[in-house]
Amino acid sequence: MLEIEDIQSESPGTEMIRTILADTFVLYMKTYTVHWNFVGPDFFSIHKLTEIQYGELAGAIDEIAERLRAVHRTAPVSLDGILNSSDLLEFREKNEFTANVLGDLARGHRLISSRASEASKVLEEEGDAYGSDLMIRRIGDHDKASWMLMSYLEGKSTNGNSHKKI
Ligand SMILES: [Fe+2]
Repeated sequence: MLEIEDIQSESPGTEMIRTILADTFVLYMKTYTVHWNFVGPDFFSIHKLTEIQYGELAGAIDEIAERLRAVHRTAPVSLDGILNSSDLLEFREKNEFTANVLGDLARGHRLISSRASEASKVLEEEGDAYGSDLMIRRIGDHDKASWMLMSYLEGKSTNGNSHKKI
């Protein structure tokens, strides 16, 4: 359990949580963007898959932000701050919203999974068992999302469909 004197200043573990929160928020927006803008014969499948995934990401954003507040840290207050804290790039108008953007989403999930793995170890060392557990659960959810996106792309590459780019 965290002692009150341990939580007055930012720790490496909570800094990592803050970065993961920003990454998760940007990936949430990117997933919504694909949900709205995807085009092609698989529109409906991708529309439904991204609906499930942005819903899961929204729940995670809230849980991670509330964890920061529960350990007496601040939660994000601006989109500008979130973008500055994340290494993920937003989609732009020039992006072609076909199967290639699914690979981009999958890479985002894998990045966050990797960061959550590192954060879980640091938080455990800091004595924050709950924060560590939260990060471990994020690994599972991001790996699952990445698997679903990549499975879709693998199916595309073996059946002769033209949507092969990732
Ligand atoms: Fe929708």
